[in-house]
Amino acid sequence: MTGNTRGAQASASAPAGVSSPAERVQWLREELDRHSYQYYVLDAPTIPDAEYDALFGELQALETEHPELLTDDSPTQRVGGAPLAAFDAVRHRVPMLSLNNGFEDEDVINFDRRCAQGLGRAAPVPAAETPQDLFSQAEQIDSAVEYACELKFDGLAMSLRYENGKLVQAATRGDGETGEDVTANVRTIKAIPLKLRGDAPEVLEVRGEVFMYREDFDRLNARQAEAGEKTFVNPRNAAAGSLRQLDPRITAKRPLSFFAYGIGELRGVDRPVTHSVMLDGFARLGLPVCTERRVVKGAPGLLAFYREIGERRAQLPYDIDGVVYKVNALAEQEQLGFVSRAPRFALAHKFPAQEMTTIVEDIEVQVGRTGAITPVARLAPVFVGGVTVTNATLHNEDEVRRKDVHIGDTVIVRRAGDVIPEVVAVVAERRPDDARAFVMPTECPVCGSHIEKLEGEAIARCTGGLICAAQRKQALLHFAQRRAMDIEGLGDKLVEQLVDQGIVRTPADLYKLGVMKLSALDRMAEKSAANIVAAIDGSRTPALNRFIFALGIRHVGESTAKDLAKHFGRLQAVMDADEAALLEVNDVGPVVAQSIANFFAEEHNRQVIEDLLASGVTPSESEPAARAPAPFAGKTFVLTGTLPTLSREAAKEMLEAAGAKVAGSVSKNTDYVVAGAEAGSKLEKAQALGVAVIDEDGMLALLREVGAG
Ligand code: IVH
Repeated sequence: MTGNTRGAQASASAPAGVSSPAERVQWLREELDRHSYQYYVLDAPTIPDAEYDALFGELQALETEHPELLTDDSPTQRVGGAPLAAFDAVRHRVPMLSLNNGFEDEDVINFDRRCAQGLGRAAPVPAAETPQDLFSQAEQIDSAVEYACELKFDGLAMSLRYENGKLVQAATRGDGETGEDVTANVRTIKAIPLKLRGDAPEVLEVRGEVFMYREDFDRLNARQAEAGEKTFVNPRNAAAGSLRQLDPRITAKRPLSFFAYGIGELRGVDRPVTHSVMLDGFARLGLPVCTERRVVKGAPGLLAFYREIGERRAQLPYDIDGVVYKVNALAEQEQLGFVSRAPRFALAHKFPAQEMTTIVEDIEVQVGRTGAITPVARLAPVFVGGVTVTNATLHNEDEVRRKDVHIGDTVIVRRAGDVIPEVVAVVAERRPDDARAFVMPTECPVCGSHIEKLEGEAIARCTGGLICAAQRKQALLHFAQRRAMDIEGLGDKLVEQLVDQGIVRTPADLYKLGVMKLSALDRMAEKSAANIVAAIDGSRTPALNRFIFALGIRHVGESTAKDLAKHFGRLQAVMDADEAALLEVNDVGPVVAQSIANFFAEEHNRQVIEDLLASGVTPSESEPAARAPAPFAGKTFVLTGTLPTLSREAAKEMLEAAGAKVAGSVSKNTDYVVAGAEAGSKLEKAQALGVAVIDEDGMLALLREVGAG
């Protein structure tokens, strides 16, 4: 169970006429099944978890008191029975096949062409040269083949056999002909109904995927780690490991889920006409079916689905490794038939793998802005998550030990979405004899200063401060970034040269740069040198909060910098504040207060500020904020989508100037969501939670109303 609520309206009291224990037991089971259906299939819970648990507890108590009322399809029978000695073999009455894979657009175009030809459709499309040709021809095709598109879940294939609506057997795929009987384990999976709803056919074999939501996986791993037990590499392995337990009581504790996507044997009713109708039918029977599916026509429809899902892949709550296309009409599927072990009517269109193995060629350390020393694995180049990866962060020394990464090891590298690549695990059996353990250096590789690790901190730091060129470079990049002094054009390469050649040591030195000096540098034309000088010049009057943020004080992010600027109004007042005064600032605690006070106590930091002011940098000043409370104080806004006239940054600044907090995600504490074009899941969440949604005009009107517009 992922959420902790099953919604609002409870229904703990039974209707009139439910009085005997047998009737009460029956009623409780129906209630519990109904709530499970609401939760797992409709994704629309109706009662809080605690209430579900209360009904469940009552049913358990009644069944203990009246053992004669116990049935094996009762929701209480998911706790897992006695351990098995081994899994029995199950022969699949209808074999469980695999899918042909495609990777490129061409593979999809060819698949569609083969289907159309196999179905004897008039060849409407002359062989398209490129996918673009095909898109432009799409309008003319009305004899295009219809496909059901769905996701390719990264879990384990499962066959569930229901006889007269009751789950009687669950089997893994095995070699496709014979699998393993995992009924006892599968009965513990709450998403899988023990009994189908409504009129169930005499025999129904449901094919689908057992998998784990990423959130459940993270929680499981945290729990395993805490208990000193082994953690899993990814949700797929966790799902597989959980199903392969001989003791169902262990499986019962694992948060497994299920989506139905196919059919095996069916008796007692006619086959549905289309795949999509079949999936709708599954949902009505109480089986979870993924809602990310669509019926489309021809290759253009398939490719559009692939692109759309590809863009959203990282945001999906579970792992997928592609999408699956199936000819929608079952009669047409039959007509197309199979070739060796895979259907001709279906194709798995794979995404670039998010996990790959590669070799750790070395482990080096990097020095960050605050001196943090981060071990980084240098990898043999590997194509993963759509890009070639050569480095992966190992975070800190403890992490290297915990994952037991040696130089020379083969490791699994993961890159999902835009996330920084990381080493997931070592493939232990591939460790070569000459693998070397990582040794944390005791001296900074850049400046030679001592590296220290404070008691209780995970991070080791170079003690060189601004003596350390690595820290200086990072500090300059931080100072110049868009959210700080916003000096356009001052990027990595330039800062690298400026520091290495000793031209710039501190941010104040930037304001002494001239076009001559800059254009003498590598790959720096006079024009770009002039642009950079102009950008530096243009940064001389920053808002005070940006200036404070730019200084790079440890623990002072954008939001604290804003609070400090608002509270003190002037730079000198911030510099002079002692810890007690700092503690009065909104959201500033002892650690942050101490870090700020320490920063300004350092003579070299004061010197840099003095130099900056002397070179004409003048942060804006205002009266300190003891006065009229900001009109939107205490209000939380979330911005989503593209606003018609304002940039997101500008809208945020306007709202914050009026005292509002601008948050990144929608919760029940959000007061307003400001939605622009192509607003996505945040808008949906706002609507689901009943949060007020306004557009840019609405936001401007609100600001005007409170006199802040
Ligand atoms: S249909 C006759 N649909 O992919 C076609 N399979 O390579 C049988 N899979 O073993 C499979 N998502 O574990 C189908 N939406 C989906 C799927 C899916 C994941 C897996 C399944 C199967 C493998 C085939």
